Amino acid sequence: MKYIVSTVLFLVFSISFSQSKSIDLRVEALLKKMTLEEKIGQLNQYTDDWNITGPLIVNPNKEADIKAGMLGSMLNVNGVERTRKYQELAMQSRLKIPLLFGFDVIHGYKTTFPIPLAEAASWDLSAMELSARIAAIEAAASGIHWTFAPMVDISRDPRWGRVMEGAGEDTYLGTKIATARVKGFQGKLGDLNSVMACAKHFAAYGAAVGGREYNSVDLSDRMLWEVYLPPFKAAVDAGAATFMNAFNDINGIPSTGNKHLQRDILKGKWNYKGFVVSDWGSIGEMYTHGYSKDGIEAAYSAITAGSDMDMESNTYRNTLGQLLKDKRITVALIDDAVKRILRKKFELGLFEDPYRFCNKDRQEAALNNPEHAKAAREVAAKCIVLLKNDTNTLPLSKQTKTIGVIGPMVKPKRINHGFWAVNLKDVDSTYIVSQWEGIENKVGKNTKLLYAKGCDIEGESRAGFQEALDVANQSDVVIVSIGERYNMSGEAKSRSNIHLPGIQEELIKELQKTGKPIVVLINAGRPLVFNWIADNMPTVLYTWWLGSEAGNAIADVLFGDYNPAAKLPMTFPRTEGQIPIYYNHFNTGRPSINEEKLYKSSYIDLPNTPKFPFGYGLSYTNFNYSNLKLSNAKMKSNEKITVTMDISNTGKYDGEEIVQLYIQDQFASLIRPILELKDFQKIKLAAGETKTISFIIDNQKLSFYNNQLEFTSEPGTFNLFIGASSADIRLKSNFELVK
Ligand code: NOJ
Repeated sequence: MKYIVSTVLFLVFSISFSQSKSIDLRVEALLKKMTLEEKIGQLNQYTDDWNITGPLIVNPNKEADIKAGMLGSMLNVNGVERTRKYQELAMQSRLKIPLLFGFDVIHGYKTTFPIPLAEAASWDLSAMELSARIAAIEAAASGIHWTFAPMVDISRDPRWGRVMEGAGEDTYLGTKIATARVKGFQGKLGDLNSVMACAKHFAAYGAAVGGREYNSVDLSDRMLWEVYLPPFKAAVDAGAATFMNAFNDINGIPSTGNKHLQRDILKGKWNYKGFVVSDWGSIGEMYTHGYSKDGIEAAYSAITAGSDMDMESNTYRNTLGQLLKDKRITVALIDDAVKRILRKKFELGLFEDPYRFCNKDRQEAALNNPEHAKAAREVAAKCIVLLKNDTNTLPLSKQTKTIGVIGPMVKPKRINHGFWAVNLKDVDSTYIVSQWEGIENKVGKNTKLLYAKGCDIEGESRAGFQEALDVANQSDVVIVSIGERYNMSGEAKSRSNIHLPGIQEELIKELQKTGKPIVVLINAGRPLVFNWIADNMPTVLYTWWLGSEAGNAIADVLFGDYNPAAKLPMTFPRTEGQIPIYYNHFNTGRPSINEEKLYKSSYIDLPNTPKFPFGYGLSYTNFNYSNLKLSNAKMKSNEKITVTMDISNTGKYDGEEIVQLYIQDQFASLIRPILELKDFQKIKLAAGETKTISFIIDNQKLSFYNNQLEFTSEPGTFNLFIGASSADIRLKSNFELVK
């Protein structure tokens, strides 16, 4: 048996090794035929102009450049016809090098899945891998080779609009999710259902000062390595074909021109073999940063730093030739970037058939696959967080006589897609199940549904309040759906005020006076502040932006066909003044225990605790944690401890629980966070069922970046916490790491 396994492994290894060798040879052979202009051409990427995602530079020479072999890639081209049209131009060039088509397929293509932050709330890695897989299948069938996802930026600042696009604040969870998403998008690169992934934005874009988009980042090396880099490293290990650098400067150097990040860490220490694309115009923007005094200097910094492809700034195109003439860079440097790009084109099979992703029938089938909708519905339900169910109003009975459905989010469709939904020409006509339709699909004929909008998302008009009150007064139960418009979180959507917009909270205050049971649904792309609702309304679901199947998924949860299990991947602050707020902070020398204020690390006007903590979320059932056991009380760094416990479903519904394992290193040469997530398990338990689960603690889980930036552990006592959230620790113990 052993012999068979090792023979098979050897064969698989030898085949992929020889494939990779033969690609190397083909790349070298092609490179030899290329002129310098053609090489530089491969390093350029232009946007198409019908679907732009950044400040467009009007370029009338696009098509001529493609025919002249002066372009390596395009973004924002989709659909088999349009991609074929551009590829045909590339086939008229001297060497017929195919174009790569990149696109922001962030949370689905036609079938839109929940926004990435919402998916992170599911803590369900296979669900996230599946959603990326389906996005890849649809995108690849529409001529796309490359998605600019996953965004693996950790962020502790909900003012930053792009938190909607990441996995939240935690590095461990973010690292697991980065791996799942890269695997999902890429499958086996080269097969027809896969697209290249792109880990972005390298690096620390999520730490922009004040949460303001594109702002500077000032960060210690320790934080960079400990908090922000691990998801990128995980993306490298998972085989991410490409990386994108970032708009922000970090400690004074723009990421795009940051040699330490790209050359030393990514391509050096991590030995990354894929290619790095700049962000939109970011090479040229190094001038505005005050870093490069002109285009030539910007190109010099970017290419020497390791940025291989210039997205839409035209800087490489216009200046690399001059830099070579001036002998400031070598052809070998250009060749390295070109080879990295060509290699991916070979791996995708584009030299065998440049149109292999341009099949109309395949596109038709992939974009109309009912299985995709089914998956989107299941994934969406997994993302809904039950914040409150104090009076057990949920789940609702399908036999309820009259239900009032109120709010500005109830009937519109587009809102459910959230930011970064793919614009397939006419988004409103693409398929989205509104919340109204979802509820209508769910209830029986004997249930009467009443609707009132109540108010707009923004604005001050109370003109719709009376109608909403009339509806509520006639209803047995009221569902109110409020939140952020789809473009209030996303790129360039930072907000200084993250309270619920407009007078939506006022509407709820009025409705509460009717005394009817009310379920509040909050739709948003970030953690919002809604203290009055959180304090006064007993039933609240956080639904984020759930995508095409939002309506059905919300109805599944409202009426108990799915028991909510999601947990927050980001801390929800009480107010903006607490930001940045995150669970894994340090203790300080004067921690405020029980909100003590005098000479304590606290605010005099606010508790330190958040409104809703990281890892928090309820279920229709209850879980009991007991019987914590450690296999041993001590371990050496080459040993392990097995931790076991019993989890029981003590309620009347079947359900899932996300059991979270946190560790605290009590004393170290650098102070350590009060808690750090180091593992989790999402388990299913039937009502009344108990399961014993186990975790393994190894040296990796106990290690951190010390003052010399070595990833290492230090002997001493570690506290172990098992929780239903970062603030709801159910079991505790400790153990020793000994020399
Ligand atoms: C700018 C964004 O920062 C990046 O994430 C995106 O992929 C590009 N634009 C292309 O649209």
